[in-house]
Amino acid sequence: MNDSPTPARTNVRVKISALGTYVPPRLLTNADLEKMVDTSNEWILARVGIRERHIVDKGTATSDLAVQAAKKALAQRGIGPNDIDAIIVGTVTPDMFFPSTACLVQHKLGARGVWGFDLSGACSAFVYAVQTGAQFVATGAHKRVLVIGADVMSSIIDYTDRATCVIFGDGAGAVLLEPAEDDSIGLIDFIHEVDGSGGCFLYMPGGGSLNPSTRETVDQKMHYVHQDGQQVFKFAVRKQTEACLHLLERNGLKGSDVDAFIPHQANLRIINATADRLGLRPESVIVNIDRFGNTTAGTIPLAMNTAMQEGKLKKGSLVLMASVGAGFTVGAALLRWAF
Ligand code: UT7
Repeated sequence: MNDSPTPARTNVRVKISALGTYVPPRLLTNADLEKMVDTSNEWILARVGIRERHIVDKGTATSDLAVQAAKKALAQRGIGPNDIDAIIVGTVTPDMFFPSTACLVQHKLGARGVWGFDLSGACSAFVYAVQTGAQFVATGAHKRVLVIGADVMSSIIDYTDRATCVIFGDGAGAVLLEPAEDDSIGLIDFIHEVDGSGGCFLYMPGGGSLNPSTRETVDQKMHYVHQDGQQVFKFAVRKQTEACLHLLERNGLKGSDVDAFIPHQANLRIINATADRLGLRPESVIVNIDRFGNTTAGTIPLAMNTAMQEGKLKKGSLVLMASVGAGFTVGAALLRWAF
């Protein structure tokens, strides 16, 4: 675990200056899933906490959701696509292996003179992308970086596998990173960690260089998400808590100081277990998994939007973001909200 303060602390403070989110209109409810696999609304609600999730129609890709979210963020800030310097897209469901989804988003936005890339961090991708983008702003290399977390999980889910198909949804969120006017707002610190020994518990084995797509890999359903839910669950509760506690402690903060805890939305029981262990105030815990399910890189910006709608984010609010995802990847970041 990286134990030293972030280099960004010695440079310009970086703020999130705008937020935009998008989910496709089509709903997949628990009642719909009851007709597809041997499951029940009661089981899904009790074990995961989801009522419904949004799913794309055929032909809609991750870049389409990302562009909608990005347009909203730019509109909120009152700027155009040519006013940004770089685009980072966190996703595990790029439109295709290459070109990167960032290139496709750049083109669809009509942003000229911009560079960008995709970042693979699974459910931690948004937190990782924010921290990555912030380095360019902190060093003065860029003035505005657009960071997007977007996934079309329905494109890699086996809708005959009840263990995974009830969990995931599609969605996207985008934030703009800019220099903060002063130290009272913006990103404060982060703790990120990866542990590849957990790679075997949540993965998509087919389609990469190890198992290139063939008729056999498709027949064996290797192009779908495979998960050992219990292993992921235990790791998520332990490491998310550990990273958040460590982060709070080294910044002289307690769980009760947090105004908005914005966790990855994978399972309501993971969120509640982490919140309990951190000693968070119940009203500070942001939950929207019931409406969106697990949208992988999309969950944290979507939860930021929920926090805004619930009036829990104001200028200066202390925000704690946290995630655990395939890899394993672990992310935790502290910031003061800027608008
Ligand atoms: O965002 C990426 C990170 N992913 C996560 O954080 C996921 C973490 N894991 C989880 O959220 C949970 O482990 C799951 C929601 C995936 C599964 O919940 P669980 O309480 O761990 O269930 P389980 O796998 O231990 O299965 C318990 C029972 C089994 O039946 P038996 O063997 O006890 O008869 C499963 O077959 O529940 C059964 N089951 C279901 N029953 C109804 C599994 N899925 C379903 C289902 N509907 N959809």
